[in-house]
Amino acid sequence: MLDYQQLLIKVKKWVREVGDLQLASLGNQQLIDTKSTQADLVTEVDKKSEEILINKIRKYYPEHSILAEEGGGSQEGSDYCWIIDPLDGTNNYAHGFPIFCISIALEQRGETVLGVVYVPTLEQLYWARRGEGAFLNGDRLQVAGQEELGRALLATGFPYDKDSDPQNNVDNFAQLITQVRGIRRSGSAAFDLSQVASGVYDGFWELKLKKWDLAAGALLVQEAGGKVLTFENEKGINIIAANQKMVKLLLAELNY
Ligand code: IPD
Ligand code: CA
Ligand code: CA
Repeated sequence: MLDYQQLLIKVKKWVREVGDLQLASLGNQQLIDTKSTQADLVTEVDKKSEEILINKIRKYYPEHSILAEEGGGSQEGSDYCWIIDPLDGTNNYAHGFPIFCISIALEQRGETVLGVVYVPTLEQLYWARRGEGAFLNGDRLQVAGQEELGRALLATGFPYDKDSDPQNNVDNFAQLITQVRGIRRSGSAAFDLSQVASGVYDGFWELKLKKWDLAAGALLVQEAGGKVLTFENEKGINIIAANQKMVKLLLAELNY
């Protein structure tokens, strides 16, 4: 039986350590590679961050599976699987824009039971445990109650293959931008979900995300009383996250 209290203490320590490493190199010349497209970047810090987190998990939970964005994980058929995005918002990071985060979730038999999102520049540590609520540092989170599109502040993002695949979210953005108070594009899906959980944004949607972008953030939103809809296809996961009513309103507007 896992001791979740001890586990959470450890994960909070790990993300702070990795966050310090990321802050130390922010704005310095990074070794940057592109992945799927010109916009899909990876830096030495992404890889180093992932390596540190994986080494910690292997040390304390050697039998657990790990799914990590930069490919350092291994899946060995354990009941437990860690889902890691070591640096969500790599484009921001590489350009010195200070919104990026570390996202770690733990699944037990396919269900997310724990999620942690850490935003190093803001020293904001978001965490949630299934059934026990969502928190920012020590404070309990609650999604916004906004039920009118016209008063809503939303967030979204655009996929890396936006220039080659017409399913690039531009249609959805155009559909909503004239109807709402505003739409933000932070460059980090995990950050966006944490802002929905804390009631800053009234809703978030995005297409073609990967599990590591949203696993921790989705639990934050659910545990903050919100609703998360996901639709998975071969291109990735489409998501809507908000309060129940706002999810319905967004679903009616979006081309999902
Ligand atoms: C990206 C960010 C971005 C989203 C992209 C993601 P990465 O993750 O979450 O906000 O629009 O779809 O891939 O590559 O910075 O870890
Ligand atoms: Ca990501
Ligand atoms: Ca990443």
